[in-house]
Amino acid sequence: MKQTACELRQVWVSYGKTPALRGVSLQVAQGELLGLFGHNGAGKSTLLRAVLGLVPVQSGEVLVDGVPVQKRDLPRLRQRIGYVPQMLRVDAGTPVSVRDVVMMGQYAQIGWGRLPSQGHKQRADRALEAMGVTHLADKPFGHLSGGEQQRVLLACALAQSPRLLLMDEPTSSVDWQFVRELAGLIREVHEANHLTTIVVSHDAPFLARLCDRVVLMEGGEILGDLPASSLLKRVEQESG
Ligand SMILES: Nc1ncnc2c1ncn2[C@@H]1O[C@H](COP(=O)(O)OP(=O)(O)OP(=O)(O)O)[C@@H](O)[C@H]1O
Ligand SMILES: [Mg+2]
Repeated sequence: MKQTACELRQVWVSYGKTPALRGVSLQVAQGELLGLFGHNGAGKSTLLRAVLGLVPVQSGEVLVDGVPVQKRDLPRLRQRIGYVPQMLRVDAGTPVSVRDVVMMGQYAQIGWGRLPSQGHKQRADRALEAMGVTHLADKPFGHLSGGEQQRVLLACALAQSPRLLLMDEPTSSVDWQFVRELAGLIREVHEANHLTTIVVSHDAPFLARLCDRVVLMEGGEILGDLPASSLLKRVEQESG
């Protein structure tokens, strides 16, 4: 049987008085490509933040590789997790290059205030190459298209050599043509790097194409857990 890469056991998270996760339990096996589907405010991003230890868990437990997140050295844990957040708005005038963005992913390993080694720079270059964006390395990140930015953010996550990849709404700023390509790209990255991957989206066709399994969330709870191939039918049933 495959080992569990990540698990939530009856997890409650609240912002102020309102619960955003209400007793969520979920197991993600090593090597799995899982989709998290749900409408705005369902709790999807909060679930990812709980895995990263970015929000306090009121009750229940989050485990990564069998060890509770609450008991882990969080900076060290986050080194093992490639996280592509929901929005990274960088103004076109901000002088941050594509290479800077990719290096940023490695600062947890380098340590703030220390200089990156040649090895870190090489890893950044390899990740840029793997994502086909080497030619953009010296451009300001804010000048890139949505699709190019997603490739760079994936490169940033990959440069960390993660075991777990968490992506939050990767299709939100890309055009529909790139959505199809992005599904192929994420799957390639997932397989080539032997990752466990969780992708959050409210784009059902995208998740159906990309994932093995999809978990449905609503109001901070898990409503369903199904093979990705059944997602479109289920969404049609619920809206019809
Ligand atoms: N920092 C915060 N402070 C207060 N409330 C928050 C905060 N972040 C999220 N919430 C609330 O928690 C609930 C879950 O939010 P979350 O961002 O996890 O949803 P989501 O499924 O990712 O939604 P979306 O599809 O819009 O990104 C929402 O009701 C939201 O308003
Ligand atoms: Mg969200």
